Amino acid sequence: SRKYSPFAPISLPDRQWPSRTITVPPRWLSTDLRDGNQAIVDPMDALKKRRFFDLLVDIGVKEIEVGFPSAGATEFDFIRGLVDSGSIPADVMVQVLTQSRQDLIRTSFDSIEGVHAAVVHMYNAVSPAWRDIVFRMSKDEVRQIAVDGAKIMRDEAAARPGTEWHFQYSPETFSTAELDFSIEVCEAVMDVLQPTRERPIILNLPATVEAATPNIYADQIEYFCRNLPNRDAAVISLHTHNDRGTGVAAAELGLMAGADRVEGCLFGNGERTGNCCLVTVALNMYTQGIDPGLDFSDIDRVIETVEYCNELPVHQRHPYGGELVFTAFSGSHQDAIKKGFSARETQNDEAWRVPYLPIDPADLGRSYEAVIRVNSQSGKGGFAWVLEQDQGLKLPKKMQADFAPNVQRMADELGRELNAADIWQAFRAAYHVQT
Ligand code: KIV
Ligand code: ZN
Repeated sequence: SRKYSPFAPISLPDRQWPSRTITVPPRWLSTDLRDGNQAIVDPMDALKKRRFFDLLVDIGVKEIEVGFPSAGATEFDFIRGLVDSGSIPADVMVQVLTQSRQDLIRTSFDSIEGVHAAVVHMYNAVSPAWRDIVFRMSKDEVRQIAVDGAKIMRDEAAARPGTEWHFQYSPETFSTAELDFSIEVCEAVMDVLQPTRERPIILNLPATVEAATPNIYADQIEYFCRNLPNRDAAVISLHTHNDRGTGVAAAELGLMAGADRVEGCLFGNGERTGNCCLVTVALNMYTQGIDPGLDFSDIDRVIETVEYCNELPVHQRHPYGGELVFTAFSGSHQDAIKKGFSARETQNDEAWRVPYLPIDPADLGRSYEAVIRVNSQSGKGGFAWVLEQDQGLKLPKKMQADFAPNVQRMADELGRELNAADIWQAFRAAYHVQT
């Protein structure tokens, strides 16, 4: 059963609130094996990539960017091996990234030819800084790069009928480019590839470097969606980075602005400050009552694999996944949480209403036991809860107050958090316990 925290709608004098919410889950694309992988000190070897791929399939990701095959033999061989293993599920579509150059596009097709369905993802940067400084090219020249690449993609696909080919185009640096120019380039690419409503092109609009508040990105997405001719023949995809710490917010607002798909990485790995964290976006939806279609019911297993493959820790306070996110150190929080859990036992609440916990930890495979921690700053509620869970002892209020200094003293002396055994030891030292 779905448990979620309802927000309290308010009505403003002049309008409905909230003005917009996310009501349907987007299509998800994981770029862990590409954008994520290119940003780690030791890129994943084939075994790690395979393990990551299997994890993504297990949690329900249906579109997976598996690499940048023209970047080198390791990438190419992994992708070719994955395809040749015949183990890509029929409902999963793999995607490969390429620059707009004939040899690179051909190599990309070579790497995945024969798979049941695949996306070839071509990109070139369109914004003024890249045009002027990096490439020293005019707008026309930049548009032509995209058009030439699209023609090669079209011809390569036609020559290789064994695979259902899909195309993705990214005007890289979209969020810092002139909107009308991005639309113009995408339109030119569409003219070549002739997408239809039934077989749309994916237009991926990156905040390659996050440069403004997330509402600005959303406005750009809305403008793009409204002004792109033949919008029905395009899937609008979001690809946010996290340079200002708002990659998730930008993706969420981008969805409300009309996009269909979100690209990102688990726990936000990726270039510099990372890509949009897919776990956070998905579970934010879940807590609003929208089934994201991704399964994080055993989040510890997900973290274990991600940490192993990326060789990067998931931060202890990372939303939903971090080791500390279901803990409460302050006494008043502990007391409120305890009351929340007790109320659930008696009230059979459909909605999730335990104070200070945005989601039921059990929905992510975490247990209630880990929720309350006891240290020198905790109040009475914490140790009382632990004693009740661990020993079945319900301490009367007066006794809690009497025992509290002992708990604090022990935590101070040991200089660490207390576990159930410590608390029980302190209790036995303070009182005569009959067994
Ligand atoms: O951030 C970016 O712009 C990219 C593109 C290649 C899509 O990763
Ligand atoms: Zn990126």
